[in-house]
Amino acid sequence: MVSKSFGLPGLLSLLLSLSTNAIATINLKGQTIEFNGKTYYAPPTAVATLKTAAGAQVSNTNGLQPLTVIRSDTLKLTSSIIESLVENYESMDDVFNTGFLEYIYVEYNGTHKTPSESVSTPSSWGNKFLGFASAYDTKASTKLSSSTSLPAGPYFFNPSSGEVFEAYLLYSDTMGSFTQGLIAVGDDEYDVLSASLPGYASLTIGVPSRLYFTKTTEKPLAGVRLGVKDLYDIKGVKTGCGNRAYFDIYPEANTTGPAIQSLIDAGAVIVGKMKTSQFANGETATDDWVDYHSPSTPAETAIGSDTGGSIRNPSQVNGCFGNRPSWDLVSLDDVMPMSPLLDTAGFLTRDAKLWRAASEVLYKDAGLISYTKYPKSIKTLQFPTSADTAADALLLDFVDSLATYLGGANVSTFDYDDLWEATKPSTVSANETLESLLNLTYPILISKQQYSLVAAPLYEKYEAANGGRKPFIDPVPLSRWGFGLEYPESQLDEEILHKDIFTRWWNSTAQVFDEKTCSDSLILYVGTAATPTYRNVYRSLPGIPTGFASSRIANFAGVPDMVVPIGQALYNSTVTLKEEYLPVAVDFIAPHGCDLMIFNLVNELVEAGIVKEPVAGSTLYGDGVIYY
Ligand SMILES: *[C@@H]1O[C@H](CO)[C@@H](O)[C@H](O)[C@H]1NC(C)=O
Ligand SMILES: *[C@@H]1O[C@H](CO)[C@@H](O)[C@H](O)[C@H]1NC(C)=O
Ligand SMILES: *[C@@H]1O[C@H](CO)[C@@H](O)[C@H](O)[C@H]1NC(C)=O
Ligand SMILES: *[C@@H]1O[C@H](CO)[C@@H](O)[C@H](O)[C@H]1NC(C)=O
Ligand SMILES: *[C@@H]1O[C@H](CO)[C@@H](O)[C@H](O)[C@H]1NC(C)=O
Ligand SMILES: *[C@@H]1O[C@H](CO)[C@@H](O)[C@H](O)[C@H]1NC(C)=O
Ligand SMILES: *[C@@H]1O[C@H](CO)[C@@H](O)[C@H](O)[C@H]1NC(C)=O
Repeated sequence: MVSKSFGLPGLLSLLLSLSTNAIATINLKGQTIEFNGKTYYAPPTAVATLKTAAGAQVSNTNGLQPLTVIRSDTLKLTSSIIESLVENYESMDDVFNTGFLEYIYVEYNGTHKTPSESVSTPSSWGNKFLGFASAYDTKASTKLSSSTSLPAGPYFFNPSSGEVFEAYLLYSDTMGSFTQGLIAVGDDEYDVLSASLPGYASLTIGVPSRLYFTKTTEKPLAGVRLGVKDLYDIKGVKTGCGNRAYFDIYPEANTTGPAIQSLIDAGAVIVGKMKTSQFANGETATDDWVDYHSPSTPAETAIGSDTGGSIRNPSQVNGCFGNRPSWDLVSLDDVMPMSPLLDTAGFLTRDAKLWRAASEVLYKDAGLISYTKYPKSIKTLQFPTSADTAADALLLDFVDSLATYLGGANVSTFDYDDLWEATKPSTVSANETLESLLNLTYPILISKQQYSLVAAPLYEKYEAANGGRKPFIDPVPLSRWGFGLEYPESQLDEEILHKDIFTRWWNSTAQVFDEKTCSDSLILYVGTAATPTYRNVYRSLPGIPTGFASSRIANFAGVPDMVVPIGQALYNSTVTLKEEYLPVAVDFIAPHGCDLMIFNLVNELVEAGIVKEPVAGSTLYGDGVIYY
């Protein structure tokens, strides 16, 4: 034990520990390397050792050097083959750059007994061609071999020890999306990334070279960089749930929940934990966000959770695909709950294929059927009736194109209140509306269930450790928990009953299963119509999320609700004083278990050019420029 104080007790204990040999273990956390104008990270553990066949070191140069590993099965490797491989690496991978060609090591992975080489690389690449390793070529004692077969790509190499380390490129989290950058340690554990870049109050995220990974049937997500909402436990790191007291009082997670583990097993690379509104309660930027500031935009692909809209809302306004899946498709063990009867896990991404691939992995045990025939009925919910604004025009055009794509689908308007009045179950009173039946269902479920599962244990632990003090809780979760406490426990049973009444009514009346197409219809509602919500506006106190709306259908019926960005429309920004774009998005609703039908349809719409995949940046389809 080494005391932090320089006083006598500290000195004594230091001497004591030295004399008993109980010296603290030193954990190396990796190295940060700057070259070619970029900053990289090398993890502490080498992935291979390069030695000559005679076991000698390559040179006595110590310290890390850039290295490129090339794999080739060509019988005669030539300079032009290497040059074209390098071009390919540059176009595929953000981590690789020609600076890594300082040392080149070629691993021959063909089957010929006597492969050969005729290589003279450009001097701008560095001149240390380490040669050509072949399992069959045992005579050449000066040639190199690697202790482990290495995937192609950029690495760092210590010529003296022969150790080879993977290369991670470091990015600054300028959008403030993350709570911690992570790095894998072995197969089933993560650690906090120790590297740090210059950046204004932003974290650093490290990404491994894309060249290390090859997608296979077993690893369909190989190399996919994933951000994880900070309410999923990941072994080795803390879960914060958006609350400083929670982060502080609970230890590192000792297990990774099955949802995240299935993504890791499929090859996904977790690059960091991402911010969540506190305890996943919907907070409006900026004034509801007290413990942490709301992020500006999501990264490449993120796994979120949706209880009331936490995947759908950010997907809509950030121009991403996003899915609230059918309820109960995947175990949410080791995930902070809001209401287990409403909680779901899904993705936000700009890549429709990846969206489907990641979902196929996450929901693989749910036995979903991959329908590729689609309903011939489109029901629109609260859609515009005329093209008064640019967003309205986009929405109407989209429905037309979709109907045509489906071979002339019947488009009709849908009004759930009318349907309810005509078909409501006899068990509810004649004057019961959807609004009156379901008014308190959402706030009672989330507040009462989260209070007993999360808040009460947190209070108990925190108070015991801090002389009876209560922890700080943001205004939104605090007011919601307070609201729930005003009602007796019997109110929870009552609201669960209301939810069940709605589920049964919805799935027997509004939208029903179909054997060929999974659903009798596609129900569409407007996700967002390019209306700005500014972060720099002072708002009123948080309210209670009572009532019923189209966005609550999926929550109460347990059905999938999937966000599809369909375009962008201009508005006059009060910040930039210019016309800027905001996304326009449509939500698709289908019956329970019809998730893959919608994924397939959306992917076909992307292929047909009806839905255009968005890019990150200040416009949906632009040049990726981000203004700060
Ligand atoms: C050798 O490796 C390259 C690059 O990974 C790959 O494209 C090729 O298919 C491999 N050849 C064999 C025979 O495995
Ligand atoms: C893991 O952590 C949980 C919750 O803190 C605890 O109940 C459990 O005993 C721990 N398991 C192991 C194997 O340490
Ligand atoms: C179109 O849908 C509406 C509403 O479901 C229905 O009343 C109408 O008969 C349908 N028309 C056709 C041609 O299928
Ligand atoms: C429905 O009518 C009953 C009896 O008149 C009344 O007690 C109840 O409050 C009414 N409910 C609604 C939702 O108006
Ligand atoms: C919904 O609940 C809120 C809060 O209790 C109440 O103010 C409001 O009148 C209710 N609305 C309906 C339609 O019951
Ligand atoms: C409809 O809802 C009921 C009640 O929750 C459920 O038992 C049933 O499985 C659902 N059917 C479908 C097709 O989702
Ligand atoms: C922005 O403001 C200008 C000037 O008032 C107006 O001409 C233009 O139509 C506005 N653009 C949008 C998208 O509202």
